[in-house]
Amino acid sequence: MARSLRDRVSTGIVTRFSLPPESRHSRGFDSRDDINSRVQADSRFPQTVATLRAAGCVFAEDEAVILLEAAAEHDVAGSAPAVGGSEQRLDELVARRVAGEPLEQIVGWVDFAGMRLQVRPGVFVPRQRTRMLAEHTATVTKQVADSRGSGAESGSGTVPRPVVLEAFCGVGPVASAVAASVPEAAIHVGDADEQAVRCAVANVEAYARAGESSANVTGHVLDCLHGLPDELRHGIDVIAAVPPYVPVTAVDFLPREALDFEPSTALFGGVDGLDLVRRLIAESLDWLAPEGALLIELGQDQVAEATGFATERELEAQSHLGEEEQTVVLELRPGHWN
Ligand SMILES: C[S@@+](CC[C@H](N)C(=O)[O-])C[C@H]1O[C@@H](n2cnc3c(N)ncnc32)[C@H](O)[C@@H]1O
Repeated sequence: MARSLRDRVSTGIVTRFSLPPESRHSRGFDSRDDINSRVQADSRFPQTVATLRAAGCVFAEDEAVILLEAAAEHDVAGSAPAVGGSEQRLDELVARRVAGEPLEQIVGWVDFAGMRLQVRPGVFVPRQRTRMLAEHTATVTKQVADSRGSGAESGSGTVPRPVVLEAFCGVGPVASAVAASVPEAAIHVGDADEQAVRCAVANVEAYARAGESSANVTGHVLDCLHGLPDELRHGIDVIAAVPPYVPVTAVDFLPREALDFEPSTALFGGVDGLDLVRRLIAESLDWLAPEGALLIELGQDQVAEATGFATERELEAQSHLGEEEQTVVLELRPGHWN
């Protein structure tokens, strides 16, 4: 039980951070190896590694590369403009990391499923385990698109686009993955946090496939699903969500990074962690299309309770267990499976 909870709520670089294949900024033609070699040759590299290691960063060398790279860039999340160039900028970034701020919030991005997603201070950082939900959501959306005819026709006015909502979207990792793989989808993202919604819209726009004249994405500030426009009622083909699902009783298992730098409203879901999962299941009945699907990430030890709640509402349930055997994607559908 303890291990399961610790892993479910873990946020550290150990589990979620990886170096991107290449820099997003001016060094677009340099390979990752070139960038690493150049940064590691910087005279400030050894001291930065030592400072991070002393502060308890397990992957101090990787983090030092990322912070040195970020210090050389112009726009770093939450930073004041650099007065004395990258020297002062580096000191500032390292100090934030030593104080425990998540690396992703400091540098302003997270590598998620090969995408470089924008993150802002104070916004929930997507966890790598959510790739499973992203993959399932993209697959189900593709099935909807295929069942309606060729992708080329979709959106032309003759074939309705698949309509997808990432509820509790944070910075929109699931919606971005769908945008990247099913460009004909009409994507909606919703969250109680307006700043998160802005990040999610920007991320989806960035990952909508090249060739689309503009991404089909709409952001909504929501309380669970309250606040969605009426025209979506019974019209959403796929709702995907990672609601806050940590039980309040698990607070002692959360790392300081999460407790100090992510809003508690993004983490906790009541005594058993399922308060918002139950609300989402109940409210989804008003918004799902008749053949629609609701996909929810939650913990393995919460599946039985959530499934019971859903089947009482005549939803059919299938659960998909992640490789680490702790995270589950619960797939719920009204009526019969296709
Ligand atoms: C666990 S995070 C998941 C974010 C994102 N889906 C991801 O995987 O990175 C939960 C999100 O739910 C949002 N949230 C919390 N309570 C909410 C509510 N009542 N209605 C809508 N969003 C809410 C938080 O702001 C946070 O962004």
